[in-house]
Amino acid sequence: MNTMIELIQSHRSIRKFTNEKVSNEQINMIVEAGRWAPSSHHVQAYSIVVINEKEKKRNLASLAGNQSYVESCPVFFVICADFYRLHEVSTLLNKPFEVGEIEQVLVGAVDAALVAQNMLLAARANGMGGVMIGGIRNEPEKVANLLNLPKYTFPVMGLCIGYPDQDPAQKPRLPLKAVVHDEQYNTVQLNQVLREYDDVMSDYYRKRTKGKRIETWTSQMANHFTTPKRPQVGEFLKNQGFLKKE
Ligand SMILES: Cc1cc2nc3c(=O)[nH]c(=O)nc-3n(C[C@H](O)[C@H](O)[C@H](O)COP(=O)(O)O)c2cc1C
Repeated sequence: MNTMIELIQSHRSIRKFTNEKVSNEQINMIVEAGRWAPSSHHVQAYSIVVINEKEKKRNLASLAGNQSYVESCPVFFVICADFYRLHEVSTLLNKPFEVGEIEQVLVGAVDAALVAQNMLLAARANGMGGVMIGGIRNEPEKVANLLNLPKYTFPVMGLCIGYPDQDPAQKPRLPLKAVVHDEQYNTVQLNQVLREYDDVMSDYYRKRTKGKRIETWTSQMANHFTTPKRPQVGEFLKNQGFLKKE
C-alpha cells in the first residue's frame, strides 16, 4: 500500500512517551508541515504556540482537566484560531473588520484543525506519535491568559507530541456503510449498523481493559450527550470579539 495511506490508516493516539527529546529541528519540521495546510480564502486564521517549558505544560495539564500527558509529553503545541493579525491588517488599511458571525468561528476552527492534523501526520511520519487535546477549551480564559493570547484568537486544541512508549491497539471506527452515502443520505440501515458496531466496540474495550470495561459505543455516546459541553466557550468567544453580542 502507498506509504501515505498506510500512515493515515495506522493512526492511534499516543499518550505515553519515552524520555527522548523532540529536537528543535523536529519541532520546525512539524510546524512547517502545519503551515502547508489548505486555508479557507487563504486567510490562514491560525497560530501555533510551542510549549517546551515544564511549568507551563504542568499548568496546561491542570487546566485541561488534569491530563498528565500534557505535562509529560516532550513538546506540547496549542493550535489557535487567529484573526488578530487580520484585524491588524484591516486597521492598517482602514477597513471595517467583521468577524461577528459564527461563520468566522468555523473558518478559524477548521483552519486550526487542518494544521493540527498535518502536524500530527508529520510527527508520525518521523517516528513520533501524539494526541490532540480538546481539554484546553475547559478553561479557555485561563489558557488565553497563560499564553498571552490577544483578542480575535481562541485556542482550538492542544497537541502532545513525543516518541511513543506504548503500542495501543487501533480503536475501531464506525463501519463504512454508517458514514458513507451513495448519492444521497441513507437513514434506513442505521439500527443494524449500530448493533454491529456496538459488538465490535465492546469487544475492543473488553480486550483493552482485560474484561473490566464492557461498554457499547451507543451507550457511551448517549451518555455523552446528556449534558451540555463547555458552555463557557460561547462567552469566552464573545469576549474575544467573536459571535455578535445580543
Ligand atoms: C479535536 C480533538 C480533541 C481531543 N481531545 C482529547 C483530550 O482532551 N484528551 C484525550 O485523551 N484525547 C483527546 N482526543 C483523542 C480522541 O479521544 C481520540 O482521537 C479518539 O478516542 C479515537 O482514538 P484514536 O485517536 O486512538 O484512534 C481528541 C481528539 C480530537 C480530534
